[in-house]
Amino acid sequence: TKRVVISGCASGIGRATAELLLHFGAEVHGVDLREPDLCLASFTVTDLALPDSISAAVAQIGGRVDALFNCAGVPPTHGKLDVLKVNFLGTRYLTSCVLEHMHEGAAIVSTSSNGGAGWRNHLAELRALLAETTFAAGIAWLEQNLAGIANAYSFSKEALILWTMHESASLIKRGIRINCTSPGAVQTPMLDEIETIVARDVIDAVAQPIDRRSVPLEQAWPLVMLNSDAASYINGADLAVDGGFAAAAPFRP
Ligand code: NAI
Repeated sequence: TKRVVISGCASGIGRATAELLLHFGAEVHGVDLREPDLCLASFTVTDLALPDSISAAVAQIGGRVDALFNCAGVPPTHGKLDVLKVNFLGTRYLTSCVLEHMHEGAAIVSTSSNGGAGWRNHLAELRALLAETTFAAGIAWLEQNLAGIANAYSFSKEALILWTMHESASLIKRGIRINCTSPGAVQTPMLDEIETIVARDVIDAVAQPIDRRSVPLEQAWPLVMLNSDAASYINGADLAVDGGFAAAAPFRP
């Protein structure tokens, strides 16, 4: 039986991923702010904005961990610093805590976003943030540089992609793989919240050329695949799961 940890297991993509893993017979340990309506091996109330909460949750889970699914995240309706804390610093810190319980053959996957596709435009800033390797140092860097970050949500997702690429080189030496996905528009409570500040036609434009939004299960399958032995040669990759939106980018007027 595979022992897996999932953040964001109470809703949307994380919940669908937990359900799929339960279906496959995995031992699923969930962390989230809110309790999921699923029967998991364990659930620990955890706030990814608070490092003490994260390390306590991982200590509680304990034992060997075969796979980590980083699915928790907050939308751009939240404050800038909160977005960067949860989506990047907290996710990175959770990963570092879980890594202490991982062994050769283990795997990590995170949900970035097609909103993170512009990482090449912010390489210097992103590398500076990545160089601050602790949660506290990351906060200090963000507090100093927050004014220069135009879109905190995109920046958090760009950081997640670049960090995945960076970690992949050292982790593979331990036989551990790390990847991420970049979903397009997925019909979840988060997207409902985003629709309160982003016009519908803007979201529909992100759902081109496929011309429909994704359902959470269409995101869960690739996440499970990337953390399975079927993906044993995939490392440091960012997989677009967006119905072809990123592929069409070079051909848009
Ligand atoms: P969701 O809102 O349905 O689920 C997110 C889960 O994360 C919730 O259960 C929530 O309680 C949990 N969470 C939020 N803040 C937390 C914190 N501080 N500590 C612990 N848990 C926390 O969202 P959805 O749509 O399933 O998103 C999952 C991931 O996919 C996020 O990282 C999101 O940015 C990403 N994504 C979503 C897209 C979409 O269209 N829905 C598109 C691209 C990426």
